[in-house]
Amino acid sequence: MKERIYIGDLADHIDQEVTVAGWINVRRDHGKLIFIDLRDMSGVVQMVALPSHSEAHEVASEVRPEWVVEVRGKVNKRPEKMINADEQNGDIEIEVLDMKVLNQSKTPPFEISEDTKDVDENVRLKYRYLDLRTKRMQENIRMRDSIVAFFRDYMHKNDFVEIETPMLMKGTPEGSREYLVPSRIEPGKFYALPQSPQQYKQLCMVAGFEKYFQITKCMRDEDLRGDRQPEFTQLDYEMSFVTQEEILQFTEKMFIELVEKLFPEKKISKVPFTRITYAESMEKYGTDKPDLRENKEDPNELAFVWVVDFPLFEINEEGQLAAAHHPFCSVKEEDNEKFMNAKSGKDILDVRANAYDMVLNGYELSSGSIRIHKQDMQEKVFDLLGIDREEQQTRFGHMLEAFKYGAPPHGGSAPGIDRFIMVLADEPNIREVMAFPKTREAKEPMTNSPAPTDKKILDELGLELKKEEK
Ligand code: AMO
Repeated sequence: MKERIYIGDLADHIDQEVTVAGWINVRRDHGKLIFIDLRDMSGVVQMVALPSHSEAHEVASEVRPEWVVEVRGKVNKRPEKMINADEQNGDIEIEVLDMKVLNQSKTPPFEISEDTKDVDENVRLKYRYLDLRTKRMQENIRMRDSIVAFFRDYMHKNDFVEIETPMLMKGTPEGSREYLVPSRIEPGKFYALPQSPQQYKQLCMVAGFEKYFQITKCMRDEDLRGDRQPEFTQLDYEMSFVTQEEILQFTEKMFIELVEKLFPEKKISKVPFTRITYAESMEKYGTDKPDLRENKEDPNELAFVWVVDFPLFEINEEGQLAAAHHPFCSVKEEDNEKFMNAKSGKDILDVRANAYDMVLNGYELSSGSIRIHKQDMQEKVFDLLGIDREEQQTRFGHMLEAFKYGAPPHGGSAPGIDRFIMVLADEPNIREVMAFPKTREAKEPMTNSPAPTDKKILDELGLELKKEEK
């Protein structure tokens, strides 16, 4: 095969003979003339099969949408009145000289050449590999890649080191239910999948890396909503010897640069980002995720807000005292005395943490804090949460021990990448910006997961399923 040219590069090959390959996007049969829009990863081009090239014309009369073809043809300028200036390759077309079918396709369950946003989502997810062929989904996933590449590059330019932390770990207390993985080697014992790398990134600070980041999957078994998935991606970072102010400034600068570089059409409503305390936000807007856009109809407006001074503790949905963010957040200096003198967490619900959220257009985009780095402070938080010393050792002995070996002061944050892209792409939910998301019932219709397993595997794991009650 002659060197294949991408459809997006055809404009450089006018009047030349080229080989292209891709999928039949649309086919319009006018009898003598057959028009075919061919699609590859770089775009779409119109081709025309003329009866004078009889073999090619015959193949062109047989092909159907989503068939895969290789085409040899000549790139012609379109006559003036046929030019469509709004379209990619709107001023050229390929005169088909030769067409080879590389694979046929069943009729897809929905039109690939059209937007699938009104198609039943279960069908879209069952045939996700087809849904992803559509223009909007290709654009969303490619946009995602450019954002992830920006973040990774930005972090490296700022001397952060990417460190992979375990997916199989011990349970963490970050508020959500965990996914458990049974151990085969030690039946009856379980790993948990990380809700975030929180503890490991702090241990990376104890390990002296000073600037850590990771673009990583997090897993949480929580009730799903439009902006939540059971697995999602964070840009997780942590720094040693930093102040809250430095973290906010660093993060803010990174997001501004990203928007300026990748989305020049977007406008950030206010630079520096609006800052508001948690208490003020609750009082003024009744939420800790205020949407401060001037014009909520404008898809290009980005209203970033820092919400600072979150409380250390809260009463959770079950009426129990819990860490408002996670139990590793440090206490604001002004509230330290009150904290140190407290006998119960319930008495100090107004004690504030050095904890902050970044909110974008009403969505919580990121959480972070300056952490506790001293063992006695960490124990005190666990004490106030009602975790007795023995349990503290069982669950968090590694953190308490690590803090005894010169743990530096540190802090960080973790923007949710899926949510950020959802807002940038002006999509109504994060499934639209993830390649293979789960449904609201946490299922994946394409592979049919979760799925039952064999008795033999359960036996190996030392597990037995409870009999369903009749
Ligand atoms: P937090 O739990 O607030 O903080 O999560 C940080 C950000 O991750 C995103 N996020 C989610 N995105 C999609 N689906 C979900 N189920 C989901 N849950 C969270 C959000 C959120 O703001 N370890 C701390 C961070 C830190 O303190 O540095 C943490 O995970 O955008």
